[in-house]
Amino acid sequence: MNVLIVGGGGREHALAVKAADSGNVQNVFVAPGNAGTAADPRRKSISNVDIAATDIDGLIEFAKSKNIGLTIVGPEQPLVAGISDRFSEAGLACFGPTARAAKLEGSKTFAKEFLQRHQIPTAKYRSFTDVSLAHSYLQKQAFPIVIKADGLAAGKGVVIASDLEQSLNAVKDMLSGNRFGDAGHRVVIEEFMSGEELSFICIVSGEDVLSMASSQDHKAAYDGDTGPNTGGMGAYSPAPIADDLLVSKILELVIHPTVRGLKEEGLPYVGFLYAGLMIGSDGIPKVVEFNCRFGDPEAQPVLARLESDLVAHCLAAVSGNLDKEEAVWDQRSCLGVVMAAAKYPESVEKGAVIHGLELSSADTEVYHAGTSLQGEQVVTNGGRVLCITGFGDSVSEARKKAYERVAQIHWDGAWYRSDIGYRAVERET
Ligand code: AMP
Ligand code: GLY
Repeated sequence: MNVLIVGGGGREHALAVKAADSGNVQNVFVAPGNAGTAADPRRKSISNVDIAATDIDGLIEFAKSKNIGLTIVGPEQPLVAGISDRFSEAGLACFGPTARAAKLEGSKTFAKEFLQRHQIPTAKYRSFTDVSLAHSYLQKQAFPIVIKADGLAAGKGVVIASDLEQSLNAVKDMLSGNRFGDAGHRVVIEEFMSGEELSFICIVSGEDVLSMASSQDHKAAYDGDTGPNTGGMGAYSPAPIADDLLVSKILELVIHPTVRGLKEEGLPYVGFLYAGLMIGSDGIPKVVEFNCRFGDPEAQPVLARLESDLVAHCLAAVSGNLDKEEAVWDQRSCLGVVMAAAKYPESVEKGAVIHGLELSSADTEVYHAGTSLQGEQVVTNGGRVLCITGFGDSVSEARKKAYERVAQIHWDGAWYRSDIGYRAVERET
C-alpha cells in the first residue's frame, strides 16, 4: 500500500518513519515534507511531493494518481479547513477528524462550551469580542489570569497575565490590535490552573479509543520554563506523573466523555485526539486545550516508542475496527530536544547550513522539522529546525543520549533548551 503524510514538520517526519516501518507499506509520500523526509538515509521508501499541506485539491489529485491507501494528516490547518471531509467525499481513506469535529482545536470558545456541556473538568472561563466588556470583567478577577486568542495561533496565542495591567493590554492587543489576525477577534479569558502539564494523545474512532503512551512537552522557550510560549522545545515519553491511576482518571473523566459527547452531538471523531491536561495537587486532570492532531514535538519521542503498526491502527480507526487494535510500546524512555533557529519564536531565520548530520550515536534519531535541501546541503527553513531523540532506561539516561547527539550538530545561530525533562529527572534522583 502507498501512504500519504500531509505536513512538513518534525511530527510528519516521525509519522513517515513509522509508516515506512509498517509491514504492508511500499511508498510513503510526504506533502510537502522537509529535508529529512526527502532523504532519510535509513528509509528509502520515504519521499516528498511538492504540494502544500493546505492545497486540498492538489492532495486529492495526487492521492488518486498514486493509489494512496491511507492519508494521515499531521497539522491542524488542513483539518480545520475540511481535508478529511473532502477526502471522504472523493472515496479516499483519510485519518483525521472532519472540519466540524476539528473545531475542538479550531475554536477555543467551541471547545470550552463543549467541555462545559459534558461536565469535563476545565478552568472557568468567559469569552469576549468587545474590549470594554472584557476590561470590566478583568477588573473583578484574581491574578494570574489567562488570555487566549480564540482561533489557531500556532501555540502562541496565549498570554498568562500576572497583573491587571498586563491582562488589559493583552486583551486590547488581541481584540483591537491585529496581533493574531482573525484568530484573535474573540478572546477567552480563563482561570489560571497550577500543576503539572501532561499531553495525552489517543487514536479515536467513534467511541473507541486506543491510547498512545503519555508524554510531557516544554512549551516555554527558555530553561526553567521561562520566556515566550513556542510550539514546544522538547518532550519525553512516558511522563512519570502518568501512573495507572492517573491514566484511568484521564480516560474516565476526559477522554471517554469527550468522544461520547462528540458522537451524541453528531460529530463522530476519527483521528488523533490530543488532550493537553493540567494535573493539580488534587490529582484531577483538567483540560487546558484539545488538539485535533498529534503533538509536535510529542510525536517524535512517543512514536519512536511505538512497536506496533501505526498504519494498521489508523486503517482500523478509519474502517471502524479500532476495538481490535492493541498498541505495543518500547518500555524504555525517549526524550526529544528541539534545536531552533536564531530569533525563534519571534521570527524565523532561514538558509543557515546545518553541519554534523552525518555523524551518529547509539540510541538516537534526528527528526527534521524546519529544514530544506539546497543542492547537497541541508539548510534551516523554519523556527524549530530539528528534534533529536535519545532512548534510555530512565529519562535521565535518554536525556544524556539526546544531548550527546545534539552536541554534534551545528549551524549559525542554533540554540536549544538545556533542561528538557527536568521534572522527570528530579523525580528520578
Ligand atoms: P494552549 O494553547 O491553550 O494550550 O495554551 C498554551 C500553554 O499556556 C499551555 O500549554 C499552558 O502551559 C498555558 N496555559 C493555558 N491555559 C492555562 C490555564 N488556564 N492555566 C495555566 N496555564 C495555562
Ligand atoms: N507540543 C504542543 C502541540 O503540539 O500543540
